[in-house]
Amino acid sequence: MSRIRIILDCDPGTDDAFALMLAFAAPELEVLAVTVAGGNVGLEHTMPNALALTALAGSTVPVFAGADRPLLGAFTSETAVHGDDGLGGIRLPPGGAPAPGVAADAIRDLLRRADTPITLVGIGPATNLALVLMTEPALLPKVERIVLMSGAWAEGNATPAAEFNALSDPEALAVLVSCGRPVVFATLELTAQALATPAHLARLRAAGSGRCLQALCDIQATVPLSRRFDRKGAALHDPCAIAWLIRPDLFTTRDCHVEIDLGPGPGRGRTLFDRWGRLGKAANATVLETLNPQGFFDLLEERLARLP
Ligand code: RIB
Ligand code: CA
Repeated sequence: MSRIRIILDCDPGTDDAFALMLAFAAPELEVLAVTVAGGNVGLEHTMPNALALTALAGSTVPVFAGADRPLLGAFTSETAVHGDDGLGGIRLPPGGAPAPGVAADAIRDLLRRADTPITLVGIGPATNLALVLMTEPALLPKVERIVLMSGAWAEGNATPAAEFNALSDPEALAVLVSCGRPVVFATLELTAQALATPAHLARLRAAGSGRCLQALCDIQATVPLSRRFDRKGAALHDPCAIAWLIRPDLFTTRDCHVEIDLGPGPGRGRTLFDRWGRLGKAANATVLETLNPQGFFDLLEERLARLP
């Protein structure tokens, strides 16, 4: 089985932590690099968080710092969910040194040197990935596909219109959906099916005694149960993007056209998925529509228990 080579761009971030660990634990994937942006919290936290998580997993994957703000406009964070430090105040042993250079350059270099295309996974603001594709479009053939946790068919979670990653840098997301390479979306409606309840967390914690699994459970225990789900649980957004790469059979998909609202008004950052093709425009996105929740949590348990 040939491994899927990925570059994982993130903003850890409590759910990013699950995505990173799931990727490190997946024999189906080869993580070529982790690249980091400011997002849930500032880059001054997301970068050390990514380094600490990578080291905790015993991974030697290089971690590159990237954009600390969107292409346009001001940086906004989401500390209410992730805490001021991005990991709910859970202290991890510090990781190693950042890889030299910046994220966009590292991604371009990896694409330029790749003999076969690479999958770009984006689970934070799309700034780093957009910078790569805007500045060297000749590398597009080296992009196998782009897999994002981003957007929503309907209501957002950052504003009524917009999901957090999409709103964090709508212009960057617009670059990705217009680049011509396959873009796969795990939207809020998909990740709502990966609802981590206290019972799920208890089962996960009992699945193993490794430091990574226990740290993830400690981190997730700090995440507020979401009002959107009557406080029954919190959606594990970002690992859905990794789970699709590992076990696509757990998902169903729908191809459709998507546009991003770049306006200044209340709709800014909205992902307008044309579910019924009303605009008559070619599909530029594959949207993950359903997830087998039991299969997802079984996968998390089985794989995260393998980590040190
Ligand atoms: O809306 C959820 C997304 O925004 C997740 O990627 C979470 O980590 C935050 O970045
Ligand atoms: Ca994220």
